[in-house]
Amino acid sequence: MLPFTLNGKTILITGASSGIGKGIAIACAEARAKCILIGRNRDRLLEAQNECVGSGHEVEVVDITNESEMSSLIERLPQLDGVVQSAGIGDNHTPLKFISSSFFDEIVAVNLKAPILFLAKLEKKKLLNKGSSIVFVSSIASFHATPAHSLYCATKGGITAFVKAAALDLAGKKIRVNALAPGMVNTPLIKFGSITEEQQRINESRYPLKRYGEPADIAGAAVYLLSDASCWVTGQQFVLDGGITIGG
Ligand SMILES: NC(=O)c1ccc[n+]([C@@H]2O[C@H](COP(=O)([O-])OP(=O)(O)OC[C@H]3O[C@@H](n4cnc5c(N)ncnc54)[C@H](OP(=O)(O)O)[C@@H]3O)[C@@H](O)[C@H]2O)c1
Repeated sequence: MLPFTLNGKTILITGASSGIGKGIAIACAEARAKCILIGRNRDRLLEAQNECVGSGHEVEVVDITNESEMSSLIERLPQLDGVVQSAGIGDNHTPLKFISSSFFDEIVAVNLKAPILFLAKLEKKKLLNKGSSIVFVSSIASFHATPAHSLYCATKGGITAFVKAAALDLAGKKIRVNALAPGMVNTPLIKFGSITEEQQRINESRYPLKRYGEPADIAGAAVYLLSDASCWVTGQQFVLDGGITIGG
């Protein structure tokens, strides 16, 4: 199992204060990485840090859409062996005619612009070690449409396309770029809407594996993509969805 270890690697995780990013940080620590946890909420970041086994994990309170905060973060960061970009926001329910310029700007800023600019800055500052692995948290929404979520789908489709092109740009430096594409995962992101428990139960029953995912169901794939076990995998999207996109 040694190819799956993250021992000796420094991994930065955005969105580490909650949900999928937090689950990935905990799993990376279990795989013996040193983790740098990024988010806006200090208390929840510290809680996540406490759940990471081992020592030396760090917390950075940063809004990824704030370019000056990101520039100053770049100045503080050490050399990295892996980056997971999980920070993101959802789209409660926005039929096409209700798409506004302000919501467009907000969701594109968090889900598309910030993660792309962050990778560009890390590369420009030469903070990515040879053999690094970059993992974007995209979504099945990048290829599997749901009504009234067109902007969210567009941001995730953009990330998935970007991952393929960035993988080509960075392959010469042996830096790999991949995406995870989860189906519905039980996190605060899917709770802010008006969906009732009964509606959620019906939705979950459509999944061939009869449940939504948990952050831990996604984290193992992130560890694989960050580890040397996936050293010949780049430009790919790894679907983790309880089977919903094969039928349901
Ligand atoms: N849950 C799902 O069903 C699902 C399915 C497919 C894909 N995804 C994707 O998975 C990723 C994580 O989602 P989740 O379900 O884990 O959601 P979550 O529990 O709501 O977590 C979102 C994370 O993003 C961070 N974040 C949001 N805006 C930020 C900003 N401007 N600057 C810094 N951090 C910011 C939040 O940190 P703070 O609150 O501390 O700022 C939080 O840690 C997202 O990209 C989402 O699109 C989720």
